[in-house]
Amino acid sequence: MTSLPADLNPQKIPHHIAVIMDGNGRWATSRGLPRIAGHRQGASTLKKLLRCCKDWGIKALTAYAFSTENWQRPIEEVDFLMHLFERLLRRELAQMHQEGVRISFIGDLSGLPPSLQTEMEHSMKQTLNNQAIHFTIAVNYGSRHEITKACRQLAQLVQQGKLDAATINESLVEKYLHTGETPAPDLLIRTSGEMRLSNFLLWQMAYTEMYFTDILWPDFDTEAFHQALLSYQKRDRRFGQVKTFLSA
Ligand code: FPP
Repeated sequence: MTSLPADLNPQKIPHHIAVIMDGNGRWATSRGLPRIAGHRQGASTLKKLLRCCKDWGIKALTAYAFSTENWQRPIEEVDFLMHLFERLLRRELAQMHQEGVRISFIGDLSGLPPSLQTEMEHSMKQTLNNQAIHFTIAVNYGSRHEITKACRQLAQLVQQGKLDAATINESLVEKYLHTGETPAPDLLIRTSGEMRLSNFLLWQMAYTEMYFTDILWPDFDTEAFHQALLSYQKRDRRFGQVKTFLSA
């Protein structure tokens, strides 16, 4: 177990962190390795980060593992990633469950290989009541798709006479997103020098603090995470207001 570094304020630890794990391919290529070696190493980085979050009192971690656009990658890479997700779930589930991790998957899971869907459903069911940390993995996820789907579902309810359009408000829309009632991320970390959201949690990140680093995802270690949290703790979160809020 790693303890919280002394220069971090335990009162200002973000509740929920989202990560865009970018740079696996470049990490591998720069070492003369196939891109998939970067994903393998990236998975190991994610596992370490999850444990570190748990140790440091962060209650939710959401990772962008595969976007709706990622299907356009070479077929071998897509296949490798699907097998990697499935293999990791099989291998790590018991340990994560034992450590009190609640696992959720968000995205259009119906588009994934059936054997992977089965593992995902099993892991979500088994860990549903765990409390140590909520670990959400976005797979076949796209924010615009998610918001469009929520609009369609609400429109259908109105059409069926089950919902008055005048009562649609932000909290109702939120209930129809994949993230349901999970509180919004306090901090987004994106690695590899890219500074964009790439269709990730667009609604949910309206007031999220952004942290971008040039470090490639497989190299994003505990010290790099420590630096991200130091940067976060220096921010003045105002949520559009004047008064200073401290994050929970
Ligand atoms: C982005 O780097 C990374 C991905 C699209 C895949 C991320 C997946 C993992 C880290 C595996 C995680 C495993 C689980 C179980 C969630 P890139 O390939 O776009 O890198 P590049 O920009 O250097 O090409």
